[in-house]
Amino acid sequence: MPFGELARHWTLDPGIDFLNHGSFGACPRPVLEAQAELRARMERQPLQFLARDLEGLLDEARGALARFVGADPDDLAFVPNATTGVNTVLCSLEVKPGDELLTTDHAYNACRNALRRQEQRGAKLSVAQVPWPIAGSRQVVEAVLASLTPRTRLALIDHVTSPTGLVFPVQELVGLLQERGVDTLVDGAHAPGMLPLDVRAIGAAYYTGNCHKSLSGPKGSAFLHVRRDKQARTRPLVISHGANSERTDRSRFRLELDWTGTDDPTPYLCVPAAIDFVGSLLPGGWPELMARNHDLALRGRRILCEALRVEPPAPDSMLGSLVSVPLPDFDGPPPDWSEGAWYHPLQRTLLEKHRIEVPLMIFPAFPKQLVRATAYAYNSEDQFTRLAAALGKELASALP
Ligand SMILES: Cc1ncc(COP(=O)(O)O)c(C=O)c1O
Repeated sequence: MPFGELARHWTLDPGIDFLNHGSFGACPRPVLEAQAELRARMERQPLQFLARDLEGLLDEARGALARFVGADPDDLAFVPNATTGVNTVLCSLEVKPGDELLTTDHAYNACRNALRRQEQRGAKLSVAQVPWPIAGSRQVVEAVLASLTPRTRLALIDHVTSPTGLVFPVQELVGLLQERGVDTLVDGAHAPGMLPLDVRAIGAAYYTGNCHKSLSGPKGSAFLHVRRDKQARTRPLVISHGANSERTDRSRFRLELDWTGTDDPTPYLCVPAAIDFVGSLLPGGWPELMARNHDLALRGRRILCEALRVEPPAPDSMLGSLVSVPLPDFDGPPPDWSEGAWYHPLQRTLLEKHRIEVPLMIFPAFPKQLVRATAYAYNSEDQFTRLAAALGKELASALP
């Protein structure tokens, strides 16, 4: 059995060592079943479901999510993914020519593109260089603060970075930036379900997170949290009935973001099922699962570092359950996301020859390619050992 014993709850191909929960998540069977039931109910009486029942169902789902992420449900909106969360905020900003938007060089490419789009409105993008390898989170704080100018309006800060798997000190950064008059948009795509989360305590003007990654919700489930003082200005990307609704029992923020045209709302409605089911897998619930995933990620990283003969590039304290390890210099093109990174030759070899699904990454400021593995409930240490052996074999001639 190539998987951890909890793998029976997932529909993942048992012939593949799936070490890439980080890219798109994977939804467990009982949550998919709950979604199928909701879809059947929707199609039995679409009017009843979408026009009459949906509002209450969304409120219930939002309530459960709010308890899980430490938020007031009134400040939360469901969105299909973190990319939409980021774009919603950026398109709602009043950007004046010369305003600066700040991010770091560890930011996710799609979200950096969303920032770049604001250059058309006259904004200037600046990118703080956060070291990698890194010694501690102080270096993140120093890099971000050193990149501020009097024109900086908003900083897009990742909670868990995509190429490098670092947990950034977002609460500290939000406070320091706010003291300097700068709002923060936290890209928490990976955080819900990976790290204990208290969005209210983080205090960011905006926080977006995915429910289809570490939370194991259905694809297309995510949230945008907007602090009360920013809600009136935050509009969805798609304008619909909420814009001129005469209802006074709900905020404009709620009315606009809850309905952006006909769509399948079942991913949102299944978030409570994901929270409950994944949280029931171990006696200690989510805290135990997060700690176990973190511990497996650290053990897995040690195994990979030993096989690749590299020093760990970041302290354990800066990691969740996503770990990136530099590969030795080898003869092979870097992954090219725009041209289908999923077919990078080494990645293809790992999948086709070794039956391991794991992404290779580039981090522009660093000369070597990275392998990024995720430890999730269904993974086991054996899978990291097999990945280390496969990389050791394929890269033998390049190892130091
Ligand atoms: C840091 C980060 N932000 C945003 C995203 C985008 O997530 P989605 O495709 O669900 O919008 C990802 C996806 O991996 C990510 O790693």
